[in-house]
Amino acid sequence: MTHRVLVAYGTKNGSTAEIAEMIAGTLRRRGLEADVRPPGEVAELAGYDAVVVGGALYMGRWHRDARRFCRRHRHELRERPVWLFSSGPLDPSAGERDIPPVSGAHRAELSLGARSHITFGGSLRAGARGRMAKAILDEGRGGDFRDRERISAWAESVADDLAVAGAR
Ligand SMILES: Cc1cc2nc3c(=O)[nH]c(=O)nc-3n(C[C@H](O)[C@H](O)[C@H](O)COP(=O)(O)O)c2cc1C
Repeated sequence: MTHRVLVAYGTKNGSTAEIAEMIAGTLRRRGLEADVRPPGEVAELAGYDAVVVGGALYMGRWHRDARRFCRRHRHELRERPVWLFSSGPLDPSAGERDIPPVSGAHRAELSLGARSHITFGGSLRAGARGRMAKAILDEGRGGDFRDRERISAWAESVADDLAVAGAR
């Protein structure tokens, strides 16, 4: 059976959407169908066998679109395998240790019975929206800390889990 997976993401400056695309790319290479969507475009989860929800971190909070998505679709999500990710740290820390979910992501993890949560490094590039983003960039603290291999390895583990579930 081919699983159809939704990868939904909350982003402000686009880099979390790119992580969602990377995850979907790995899932597709594993023979799964994967749709990447901003939460606002998803009316219902019928037709999806599994869901990955990701959100950017801003001021210690999981992106609002990710939080809302998990709340709005909680009943359907509880009936499906769900994986969560956050993207944030603008340094190599995410690859060096397990960074626990912030409260909004942790609440979603518990409420939905998510299979796992992972924090990936983030990215902040010239042109990012917001005064604070510009200040961080001006101080030279921006950059791209997304580790494609780590993202791909995590997506592989999602595909592995689904392959086991499908074989049952
Ligand atoms: C104003 C501001 C606040 C941020 N706060 C956090 C934070 O609390 N924790 C964190 O890990 N990263 C934080 N970051 C880094 C962002 O999470 C990172 O740039 C992320 O990749 C942005 O995702 P997006 O491009 O999808 O919006 C912050 C960035 C900005 C500009």
